[in-house]
Amino acid sequence: MQITDLPTPQVLIDRRRLTANIERMQTAATRGGMTLRPHTKTHKSPRVAKWQVDAGASGIACAKIGEAEVFADAGFTDIRLPYPINPSNSDRLLALMERAQISIVVDHAAVATEWSEAMLAAGKQLDVLVKVDVGYHRCGIDPALATAVPFLTQVAALPGLRLRGLLSHAGQSCDVTSAAELAAVAKDEAELLRTLAAEARRAGVAVDEISVGSTATAMLSATEPDITELRPGNYVYYDRSQVAIGSASLEDCALSVMATVVSKPADNRIVLDCGSKTLTSDTGRGMVRPKGYGAVFAGLDALAPDDSLLIARLSEEHGVVEVQTGATRLEPGDRVRVLPNHSCVVSNLVDAVRLVEGSTVVDTLPVAARGKIS
Ligand SMILES: Cc1ncc(COP(=O)(O)O)c(C=O)c1O
Repeated sequence: MQITDLPTPQVLIDRRRLTANIERMQTAATRGGMTLRPHTKTHKSPRVAKWQVDAGASGIACAKIGEAEVFADAGFTDIRLPYPINPSNSDRLLALMERAQISIVVDHAAVATEWSEAMLAAGKQLDVLVKVDVGYHRCGIDPALATAVPFLTQVAALPGLRLRGLLSHAGQSCDVTSAAELAAVAKDEAELLRTLAAEARRAGVAVDEISVGSTATAMLSATEPDITELRPGNYVYYDRSQVAIGSASLEDCALSVMATVVSKPADNRIVLDCGSKTLTSDTGRGMVRPKGYGAVFAGLDALAPDDSLLIARLSEEHGVVEVQTGATRLEPGDRVRVLPNHSCVVSNLVDAVRLVEGSTVVDTLPVAARGKIS
């Protein structure tokens, strides 16, 4: 089957790029003497996760229990949830623990205590890592030693928990404006975690693991001493915002949306059949926001985006493209490819993605964990 035989919009995955991305990240982790635990929230596909594990990944990460259930159903037995799962979900987590080695993160004393009690009541122990805020200021404990070390000591003493170590997500890496700034994010994160681990060990707390994870910093973190695990997710597909940050090139981007021009109300305006229900209204994850809702490759074989085409507005099913200079030759019925700003949210919106080699569809991959947000 050719891609032109498919209705649009359609999410396409370039097999060669996907494979290269999986191998490149695995090689970096292995060379750095650390394990790779890909975050599956990007592809939500057990088949892609299997390729990652076959390439050498030690296990997988999922954000939510619902995702983890799908991957456990598919036979994955080592699943880490680097998300502050609430103990109100303890029944589901306990059921999951019957099927797989599960670890979660904690960053709050009362929550950690509640998890410990739930585990004790069930006669179990749960592996946990303490999530540390390394500058993203979303979740995680304050890394100040005066409070962080006592917190680690407290968690280590909870009988229903088994403290494995420290975990962070340097999401601020999406806000950088230069390669030097990106390098500093990775370096500072590693330094901060090493210092905290050393102090905790001095206080008698075992810290066996230091897990970091963000696509933009992963290659840099891979050369940092004492880091034991990388947890990037987006790297399998990359996207326009990773290109904007400089952590990927256009040629690394494996996911694109094939769309059709459905209207041309004026020479300087065309409408694509991909709106917010396909591209999402994500304008990029950080401050380096490329303009518009995706980059348009004006033709299925085009090698570079046409910078004169700006996806300026989205309705649910309409992508309104403003022609910035001159007129476009695109007419209704023409097909284009769009590189989305953020690939993780795009794959979550479709039941299946198409694996392609050039213009040939070689496989269909169900996005089995799509919509599993609870
Ligand atoms: C806790 C955690 N770990 C790892 C990742 C993967 O990061 P990235 O999307 O940059 O690959 C994320 C992404 O949101 C995350 O929240």
